[in-house]
Amino acid sequence: MVLLSALGVSLGLAPQDDPAAVRPKPGDLLIKVGDAGKTPLTPNDIPLAAGYTAAWAMDPADKTVRSGSRLNQVLLLRFDPAALAADTRARAADGVVAYTSICTHNGCDIDQWLAREQQLFCSCHESIFDPRDGAKVIDGPAPRALPALPLTIAGGTLVVAKPFTTPVGYERG
Ligand code: FES
Repeated sequence: MVLLSALGVSLGLAPQDDPAAVRPKPGDLLIKVGDAGKTPLTPNDIPLAAGYTAAWAMDPADKTVRSGSRLNQVLLLRFDPAALAADTRARAADGVVAYTSICTHNGCDIDQWLAREQQLFCSCHESIFDPRDGAKVIDGPAPRALPALPLTIAGGTLVVAKPFTTPVGYERG
């Protein structure tokens, strides 16, 4: 790590130029957090209406996992497409939707799934988001919806279609 950091400095790499730290890009694949095998996720890897799968984007060419910034982590969820709001369905791939894991209130990680309500919960200050409707705020102090990452499918795997719909983080909320 020290060597890589030193190389980064010597090459003049600003954090925004670090391919592991830049935000997910169109064409990126998605892999499960902690998957050393870097297996691209397919829709069937995401449980139907049964919680979220934490994931990173990965450059398909050189397999750089964009885990260099915690702001890049996303939550994948799968629903019956008919259960999604129209705008959300338009960003989904076979019912799979993706949102940042970073709460728009104070930047904690979204950390719980409310199974009965089918909603995302941030236990820091109890904000609740509806993933079937753009991750809009249902309750709590979060000032805005979770940024969404539009998806598509290519070759059977989930692929990032567009950048995040709004800036990730809370400082610009
Ligand atoms: S950081 Fe999520 S509710 Fe405050």
